[in-house]
Amino acid sequence: MKVMVVGSGGREHAVIRKLKENPEITQIYALPGNGGIAADAECVPIGAKDIASIVTFAVSNEIDYAVVTPDDPLVLGCVDALEDAGIPCFGPRSEAAIIEGSKVFAKNLMKKYGIPTAKYEVFTEMEDALRYLETAPVPAVIKADGLALGKGVIIAQTREEAFAAVREMMQEKKFGHSGDQIVIEEFLEGPEVSVLSFTDGKTIIPMVSSMDHKRAGDHDTGLNTGGMGTVAPNPYYTPDIAARCMQEIFLPTVNAMNAEGRTFKGCLYFGLMITKDGPRVIEYNCRFGDPETQVVLPLLKSDLFTIMCAVTEGRLSEVDVRFSEKHACCVILASAGYPEHYEKGFPLEIPEHIREHVFVAGAAVKDGVLVTNGGRVAGCTAVAGTLADAIRDAYALVGQVRFENAYCRKDIGQRALLAVKGE
Ligand code: AMP
Ligand code: GLY
Repeated sequence: MKVMVVGSGGREHAVIRKLKENPEITQIYALPGNGGIAADAECVPIGAKDIASIVTFAVSNEIDYAVVTPDDPLVLGCVDALEDAGIPCFGPRSEAAIIEGSKVFAKNLMKKYGIPTAKYEVFTEMEDALRYLETAPVPAVIKADGLALGKGVIIAQTREEAFAAVREMMQEKKFGHSGDQIVIEEFLEGPEVSVLSFTDGKTIIPMVSSMDHKRAGDHDTGLNTGGMGTVAPNPYYTPDIAARCMQEIFLPTVNAMNAEGRTFKGCLYFGLMITKDGPRVIEYNCRFGDPETQVVLPLLKSDLFTIMCAVTEGRLSEVDVRFSEKHACCVILASAGYPEHYEKGFPLEIPEHIREHVFVAGAAVKDGVLVTNGGRVAGCTAVAGTLADAIRDAYALVGQVRFENAYCRKDIGQRALLAVKGE
């Protein structure tokens, strides 16, 4: 079997490592992959948004199965184009990927089907948004409608900050057309939980829960990033909360998408906040989260490729999806300056004996040498019997991966550890 994975980050590296466990897969291509992924797959220099070239490559190389992981190609219709060319895929078609591609769509879906989320208003005119904010409660959360590299969400602590955020999005077009419409929503409080799930549109199977650490600095300070580290499982996701999420959020979402004629097949990601009034949806993603995938997949005991094929073929109810009872921690090593300006091109050293624990996110091979090539460079993941041991082991790996200007958060997992102790 020849399998192709579209994307280039640590998440794709984790997916590829897991796919390699299936003996039927003889060849894996990564489009475009990265210098670190090159050790586990054949990297092909085709960008993840270049859908026409992706389809041409898949057809001419007789690819048996494609996994499309990043948001952009999914929203742009990469799965539609591949399926139309006869290639079975893991990932939603664009009509379903809109659940991440448009926050207005997602919010309206939740309102229509009674799925718990923050109260909100949608605005297409800046004047209306500004007038609304004159009396709206603060903090207020301002969200650009479309994809914005995870940066289109602003939590305005004051009315002035809220006005400024609206102007940036709707007048200065900081996020381009993503800001043509905006959502202004109620500020919620409580611990956040990420739940990735497999769904074929009929059955939904949640994966082990996880906790992301989105801010750049220790103790949740600094700018929002794509994610600086993760732990799994998330101690706030108790069996009671999990049962409520299934009844109040997961099944209703799958049913709602079917009722809208937008059946979702693939990995549906629920970004949840556990408020004092119960779980609320903060966001949906139409894909595996990154770095959540870097802790979730190492805990998956069942065969990933078997599950993916079952999702594609609509027989997810027939397969076994099992997770280990252990704990995982992933610490991201980033280039100093990320998520803003950073330098790249520094030699990246990953000792051979820890290679299997490191997922490479931003690296290239230059003159035969592995060098840094992105903001997030590598995810060091450890699995252990307890959360404390997983954290300790992940930081021991971090100490062995070397490049100039590297930085990481020092407190990944500490919040979760306090929760485990009941604090
Ligand atoms: P999103 O890109 O929608 O996940 O938002 C980024 C982050 O902003 C989330 O992970 C939350 O920490 C925060 N956030 C988003 N919406 C809200 C809300 N309604 N109340 C409080 N925090 C929020
Ligand atoms: N780590 C959050 C995301 O993948 O969107």
